[in-house]
Amino acid sequence: MNLSPVAACLCYYVLSLMVSFAFAAPSSFVVPWGTAKFGPDGPWQAVKVTLGGNDSTIGIKAQNVTEVSVYPGGVWSTKSFTKAACKEYPNSLCGAGGTWDPDPDQLALQRIGFTEDWIIDEAGLNVSDIRYIALGLTIQGSTTKTVWNASLSTCDIGHITYPNGIQGGVPLGSLSLGASEEYQTFSLNDRPSDNINAALFPAQLHKEGDTPSYSYGLHIGSASFDYPGSLAFGGYNKGRVIGPVTSFRNETAVDLLDIGIGVEYGASPFAFDAKEELLSTGTTKALPNPLAPYLSLPGTTCENIAKLLPVTYDVSLRYYLWNTHDPLYTKIVSSPAYLSFSFPPSPGHTDNVVIKVPFALLNLTLEHPITDSPKQYFPCVPYERGIVLGRAFLQAAFLGRNWIEGTSWLAQAPGPGPAREGLGEQYTNIEENDAIIEGFEGEGLFNQSWAGHWSIVASQKNNETKPDDTKPEGRTLNGCESWDWCWCCCWCCCFVWLVRMGLAERICALQGHPAAVRDIR
Ligand SMILES: *[C@@H]1O[C@H](CO)[C@@H](O)[C@H](O)[C@H]1NC(C)=O
Ligand SMILES: *[C@@H]1O[C@H](CO)[C@@H](O)[C@H](O)[C@H]1NC(C)=O
Ligand SMILES: *[C@@H]1O[C@H](CO)[C@@H](O)[C@H](O)[C@H]1NC(C)=O
Ligand SMILES: *[C@@H]1O[C@H](CO)[C@@H](O)[C@H](O)[C@H]1NC(C)=O
Ligand SMILES: *[C@@H]1O[C@H](CO)[C@@H](O)[C@H](O)[C@H]1NC(C)=O
Ligand SMILES: *[C@@H]1O[C@H](CO)[C@@H](O)[C@H](O)[C@H]1NC(C)=O
Ligand SMILES: *[C@@H]1O[C@H](CO)[C@@H](O)[C@H](O)[C@H]1NC(C)=O
Ligand SMILES: *[C@@H]1O[C@H](CO)[C@@H](O)[C@H](O)[C@H]1NC(C)=O
Repeated sequence: MNLSPVAACLCYYVLSLMVSFAFAAPSSFVVPWGTAKFGPDGPWQAVKVTLGGNDSTIGIKAQNVTEVSVYPGGVWSTKSFTKAACKEYPNSLCGAGGTWDPDPDQLALQRIGFTEDWIIDEAGLNVSDIRYIALGLTIQGSTTKTVWNASLSTCDIGHITYPNGIQGGVPLGSLSLGASEEYQTFSLNDRPSDNINAALFPAQLHKEGDTPSYSYGLHIGSASFDYPGSLAFGGYNKGRVIGPVTSFRNETAVDLLDIGIGVEYGASPFAFDAKEELLSTGTTKALPNPLAPYLSLPGTTCENIAKLLPVTYDVSLRYYLWNTHDPLYTKIVSSPAYLSFSFPPSPGHTDNVVIKVPFALLNLTLEHPITDSPKQYFPCVPYERGIVLGRAFLQAAFLGRNWIEGTSWLAQAPGPGPAREGLGEQYTNIEENDAIIEGFEGEGLFNQSWAGHWSIVASQKNNETKPDDTKPEGRTLNGCESWDWCWCCCWCCCFVWLVRMGLAERICALQGHPAAVRDIR
């Protein structure tokens, strides 16, 4: 029996299709990340979505659509900016993620008349009169999915005011992660039957049976380490979660117990080994917000931390800048030293959940329009209207929520790992009633995930370190491989069986791609 490699390939492809069809149970929907890096206080990375389209009977690509990069975060509508919003901010980062001008004819057909201002105080964001519309929102993720009549907002006027008072246009819009309801309802008059229900992407996926729940799991990764983010709806990437996981019900308020400084391994680059009680307020509520950039903390707390670091508060910039000429700077930001955030255990557990944010992730860059030339800054920004843990923090933390169950999760995210995919990609479903999700548990997982990315501070104490203690690749930790083997065996058996049945060739003949075959020969 002569089966060319191309035929074998085709058969494999056909088989894959057949099998994936047979097993099309609801599973997590994985959202793709772009490779672009965004400032001016990052670098940050973003996900890709396609906006526009109104006709479910023709392919989305045949319609008037635009692909843009947006930060995943926020609730209710997915927000975007028009070209007009950037008119006042030429040659700036305004619209860096792409702008979208909705099709004027489709806009004219919109019946939602609702507008409002969009303010994120801790991000300095002030967007006036965002207009709500219901059109297609497409994500070319693990599958390509269009949600029709999705709640979208289009913005013509908006700016960000940075701590130093300088204003710039808005670089990126946002992809809504859901909301407390399944629809965003707009009333046209006092007859409820006339209400317009605009769809929320993750809710609609669940409603249509694509995903097992109305939920999300997010780790934004680190742009400076080329460590892509991970976002799933209806599930989460377990390879981005190191247990224990804390849970809380109000998504805008997690109890923050304390902030400290520690060193994961090796000697301390500081004059001390560890510090605690740096959070000036004592236990308080904190808001994890992927649409905010900084660690927005009370001035006293920033001061408590800053006085232990080679940073200087620039009074005109109003940011803490790293003293990059101080040898201690390089030592700290390349060492296993971290800023730690303690949260209470989830119900039934006893140990606090400590999320360590390596200083390596807190070596961020200010650029135009905030500064004329790039400057390295430490992202603690004094803020007295409540604590906000923005992207600076979320680089090292997993954030998720089950909207129906009403539970949010926060946990340590691993470092980049050997393949820059944390502990290895392992998408896991979140079921409708899940109030608990699991991460990988184990001493040393966090340390291992950073191996090769930070340098151990040498000291007398640790200099007898055995050189052979580098563990095998992070991937082997998660038991993926045994599964891969399983699948592989399964495929082989199927294939052999098909070949024996003479089916393989018949399928190949049906699917025959003579051109491809000719190319090879
Ligand atoms: C979108 O909503 C409009 C009005 O509510 C409705 O007529 C239309 O069928 C919807 N489109 C899709 C694709 O669901
Ligand atoms: C697509 O939308 C743009 C608005 O950005 C509009 O100028 C253009 O005419 C539309 N194109 C088509 C083919 O409808
Ligand atoms: C979709 O938009 C076009 C204009 O681009 C319009 O002519 C058409 O009627 C719209 N279709 C629906 C189903 O709303
Ligand atoms: C937002 O900006 C507008 C001007 O564009 C201003 O009138 C308004 O007061 C600002 N709102 C806030 C909360 O800063
Ligand atoms: C959630 O927490 C915020 C901030 O502490 C608070 O303003 C809000 O009322 C809380 N919401 C609920 C439903 O408890
Ligand atoms: C800090 O970040 C900048 C910009 O990403 C980078 O060039 C520099 O190497 C980093 N410093 C250290 C010590 O890692
Ligand atoms: C931490 O990781 C380093 C490699 O980055 C390794 O040399 C060291 O043995 C690890 N320490 C522990 C306690 O796992
Ligand atoms: C260990 O410490 C000794 C004495 O301080 C020093 O001579 C030696 O170079 C160190 N070894 C390593 C591997 O750092």
